Amino acid sequence: MRRLVAETRLHPADLVLPLFVKEGLAEPHPISSMPGVVQHTEATLAEAVRDATRAGLGGVMLFGIPALRDATGTEADAEDGILQRGIRIARDAVREAEAAGTGGTGGTGGTSGRVGPVVMADTCLDEFTDHGHCGVLTTRHDGSREATVVDNDATLERYATMAVAQARAGADVVAPSGMMDGQVGVIRAALDEAGFADVGILAYSAKYASAFYGPFREAVDSALQGDRRTYQMDAGNAREGRREADLDLAEGADMVMVKPAGSYLDVLAAVAGTSPVPVAAYQVSGEYAMIEAAASNGWIDRRGAITESVLGIRRAGADVILTYWATEIAGWLRDET
Ligand code: PBG
Repeated sequence: MRRLVAETRLHPADLVLPLFVKEGLAEPHPISSMPGVVQHTEATLAEAVRDATRAGLGGVMLFGIPALRDATGTEADAEDGILQRGIRIARDAVREAEAAGTGGTGGTGGTSGRVGPVVMADTCLDEFTDHGHCGVLTTRHDGSREATVVDNDATLERYATMAVAQARAGADVVAPSGMMDGQVGVIRAALDEAGFADVGILAYSAKYASAFYGPFREAVDSALQGDRRTYQMDAGNAREGRREADLDLAEGADMVMVKPAGSYLDVLAAVAGTSPVPVAAYQVSGEYAMIEAAASNGWIDRRGAITESVLGIRRAGADVILTYWATEIAGWLRDET
C-alpha cells in the first residue's frame, strides 16, 4: 500500500553523477573528506562513465583538475586541456556502453536501445586559476583604498570561449557555476555563433556561498584563499535566489539549479513552483561528507539517510539531482524493483 500511494519516487534517470578527472594521475586518488569519491585518471574516468551508463543515470557532470594553473585559467579552454579530454573520454565511454547494452548495434535512438547519460561539464575557472577564484582578478581603486576583486566582464569572455571548447569536445550541456552576472547570455550567444545551438545550458542560478563546499576544495586541489562572498549568494536570501533564476531564464537557461540542496529546500521549492524549465539541485560535497562521516561512526543508518536526503530534495521539487551517490542509489533502485 505504501508503495502504491507514494507521492515521490526516485529514478536513475533523474540522477547526475559529478566526476573529477585530474591531469597526469597514474592511479585514482582518494579524496579523504569524501570517502568513496576519487580524483579519476583518464582511464578510470572512462570506467566510471561506463558504470553510470549501465546504471541508467541521467547525466554525468565533469570537473577537470589541470597540471598547470595561472592567473587567467589558460587550460580551461585549451583544446587539449584536461576537461576537454575528459569530455571526449566520457562521450566515447557512453557510446561504448550504449552499444554494448544493445547487443552491439548502437544506442542511437532505437526503441529498445540503452540510452546513456547526458555529458555535462562545469564551466568555471576556479579549477584552472592559480588563485582559485571563479574568475579573473583585477585591482579596483576605491578612493584611497585598493582592492583585488573578480572582474565580472573580463571573466565572461573566458566563460564564452570555455563553453565553446567544451561543446567542441562533445559536451551536451555546459554548466556555468561561477555566478558572474550575464554568464548565461554570453555563453548562449557564443555557442550559437560557433554552431552549437543544440548544446544546452544548465545554469547554477541560486548558488549560495556555503560552508558545505568544504570537501570539494580538496576534491579539486583548490588554491583558494578566503571565500567567494563577492559573487555567491548570502545564505539568508531566498527572494534573491528566485530572482537569480529568473535572470538566467531570461538569458536563455535550459535548466536552472539551486545549490547546495539540503539547506535550501525552500528556495528549491519556490524556484520549482514557477520555473518553466527543469530545475536541478546539487547535493554538495559537505552534504555527502556529513552522512558518510556519521555512518562510518555507526551514528546513522547510511542507506536510509542517503535515500531520505535525496528523496527530500526530489519532494521539494528537483527534477534533476546531482549527487555523488548517483550510481550507488541507481543500484539500490534496480534491486528494489
Ligand atoms: C565551482 C564549483 C564549486 C562546486 C561546484 N562547482 C565550488 C565552489 O563554488 O566553491 C561545489 C560542489 C560541491 O561542493 O560538491 N566551480
